[in-house]
Amino acid sequence: MSMENFKQFLVFLVSALSVGFVSIIFVMRWVFHFKEGLAWDGGLAEFNWHPLLIVVGFIFLQGIAIIVYRLPWTWRCSKLMMKFIHAGLNILAFILAVVSLVAVFDFHNAQNIPNMYSLHSWAGLAAVILYAIQLVLGLAVYLVPITPGFVRAALMPLHVYGGLFIFSTVIATALMGITEKLIFGLKDPKYKDSPPEAVFVNVLGVLIAVFGGLILWIATRPAWKRPSENQLRLARSSDLGPVAGANDGAAMTTPGDQETSGDQARRRNGKVEESVGRISV
Ligand code: HEM
Ligand code: HEM
Repeated sequence: MSMENFKQFLVFLVSALSVGFVSIIFVMRWVFHFKEGLAWDGGLAEFNWHPLLIVVGFIFLQGIAIIVYRLPWTWRCSKLMMKFIHAGLNILAFILAVVSLVAVFDFHNAQNIPNMYSLHSWAGLAAVILYAIQLVLGLAVYLVPITPGFVRAALMPLHVYGGLFIFSTVIATALMGITEKLIFGLKDPKYKDSPPEAVFVNVLGVLIAVFGGLILWIATRPAWKRPSENQLRLARSSDLGPVAGANDGAAMTTPGDQETSGDQARRRNGKVEESVGRISV
């Protein structure tokens, strides 16, 4: 990655992290200052776990998990190590999302409120189920060592598209949930009277949308992608180092297969350039 590219990346990364942190502070202030705080008692304080854990886990942690391969200073770390971090953050985000669902279902049952009547609840449950499938498939395909390279490569476009689609659905679902909660929760003055809580939580919604936009931008820049293992190996064996130039030329490559004995043979023959652009997944 060139210096100019690196600086641009840093601007987006710092912006995403800042907007993410501020969103977490906003949802905490909503829950503790404007709302009833937290408890596990079947009441409104139990419901409040729902937005809090969603913003911290399903939005912020998932967002970080998605861009973790793109941090240029991690390109020196092994791919396996990065897979553990990517998978670990996603598993943590999933656990927090499930606890947040238990909180809202438990609250509804305790208050005799019907379940799964809203578009928000449909989109939300669909997102959590798809996320679980993505997680299990990701573990089976990219961590279980016996999965053949061609299967990994063939499923990578689906994995990336699926991940970005689910993440976008989560952002949209959160905005619906926020709107519902403001309409239900604000009685006197009402939502349409724009009390301070309404304006504050509208801003939270904007922050969540901006965070989503920044993560999606970072995750879709070809030049910021983690270079293939072959490119990294070449860069390491030259004087350039993994950051310099490793991903400038072959940035638009599609995922190729995992390193095969064919690759090794070609390198032994000195034709290393043939394997540049292949991506080991
Ligand atoms: C209810 C999922 C974010 C507010 C629900 C329900 C699900 C769900 C499945 C149905 C519970 C039931 O039927 O008993 C999600 C997911 C989210 C998310 C996956 C991730 C983005 C939020 C946020 C808020 C929120 C950020 C903001 C306060 C609500 C409200 C309900 C609810 C008010 C009760 C009304 C309803 O069922 O639509 N959520 N939610 N949700 N959620 Fe969320
Ligand atoms: C890449 C999402 C779980 C392995 C990606 C990318 C996304 C994504 C959006 C593209 C990143 C980029 O282009 O820089 C998700 C989501 C998951 C999940 C939402 C959980 C629900 C997993 C798991 C594994 C895994 C459990 C197993 C190790 C990978 C690999 C890449 C990848 C190997 C390719 C990275 C690269 O070569 O640049 N994932 N993923 N993912 N993911 Fe996942």
